[in-house]
Amino acid sequence: MDDTIKLSVINMTKLYGNGDGVKNIDLDVHTGELVTLLGPSGCGKTTILRTIGGFIDLTDGDITIDGKSIITLPPEKRPTSMVFQSYNLWPHMTVHDNLEFGLKLRKIPKETREQKISYGLNLVKMNGFEKKYPNQMSGGQQQRIAIARSLILEPEVLLLDEPFSALDAKIRMEMREELRKIQTDLNITVIFVTHDQEEAMMLSDRIVVMSKGHIEQMGSPREIYDHPATRFVAGFIGEMNFLDDGSGKQVAVRPEHISVTKGTDKGILHGTVRTVMMLGHYLEMTLDTEKGLVKVYINSDQADQFQKGDQVALNFDHTYSYNKE
Ligand SMILES: Nc1ncnc2c1ncn2[C@@H]1O[C@H](COP(=O)(O)OP(=O)(O)OP(=O)(O)O)[C@@H](O)[C@H]1O
Ligand SMILES: [Mg+2]
Repeated sequence: MDDTIKLSVINMTKLYGNGDGVKNIDLDVHTGELVTLLGPSGCGKTTILRTIGGFIDLTDGDITIDGKSIITLPPEKRPTSMVFQSYNLWPHMTVHDNLEFGLKLRKIPKETREQKISYGLNLVKMNGFEKKYPNQMSGGQQQRIAIARSLILEPEVLLLDEPFSALDAKIRMEMREELRKIQTDLNITVIFVTHDQEEAMMLSDRIVVMSKGHIEQMGSPREIYDHPATRFVAGFIGEMNFLDDGSGKQVAVRPEHISVTKGTDKGILHGTVRTVMMLGHYLEMTLDTEKGLVKVYINSDQADQFQKGDQVALNFDHTYSYNKE
């Protein structure tokens, strides 16, 4: 990643006929950066990606790559390439022909085409699959081919719309790691869309958290986790307890920032243990308190200390404050 700006979305608005869409989106993406658009269903992630790729027209604003506006160009003339959630490959074509298609459109000579196809298959570890048809491969393999097909077109910006969401958990994890490796090795600029915060946390240089057609916060995974700018982000990223403080504000505290001791001394809040769940190297407890249910994480070596029904005192190591929504 470097400091040059590869892509700018400038005060961009896209409204569909019914008034839904995204409004006043501003976003700069650096060369070699992987930026994730993260947010709940319907918040406008795909809409932004499609306006960048040229599959839908924007209502207002501009989009530039290397400082030049691209909004009048059709998708195939833009220096972008998009991978969709599913139905990526042409079913009647072999892997080889799927990969070759875009290269042919760009009038790349046969010999170079073949080199690029082997290079692409190598990148996604799919050598030997040239003659297979899409329906002879697993979902994960098909998405690998779809990504290879986009990569060998050498786009200035690669657009990925939930490319792994149809895959099972283990394959999804592998694909994330592979994508991140390829992306950093080749220094590719990527905009990645997901509604999975864990995926966004793992993959991204920066995350753009969206809600209802606008951007709530942009920042590194660390910044967004440690300093959620709004009540929405605080509730959307990671686990958070919200406690009314009686003044129209809410105190927010993460489960790992609460310490629990037995008895009723010295706490700023008191409660009763309702559930204790073993989650590997830590425990999740829910506590009934004067302010409602509170979730806390504690080390599993403290497992024996707490039982359902115990009276406990809570202290907070770190809290946030938000206006009530
Ligand atoms: N072709 C369309 N015509 C009208 N409204 C649309 C169209 N496509 C999307 N919308 C609306 O625009 C808003 C944003 O949709 P978009 O598909 O960008 O969301 P998303 O964040 O990608 O959601 P998901 O996570 O479900 O894919 C939603 O309210 C959606 O209903
Ligand atoms: Mg979408």
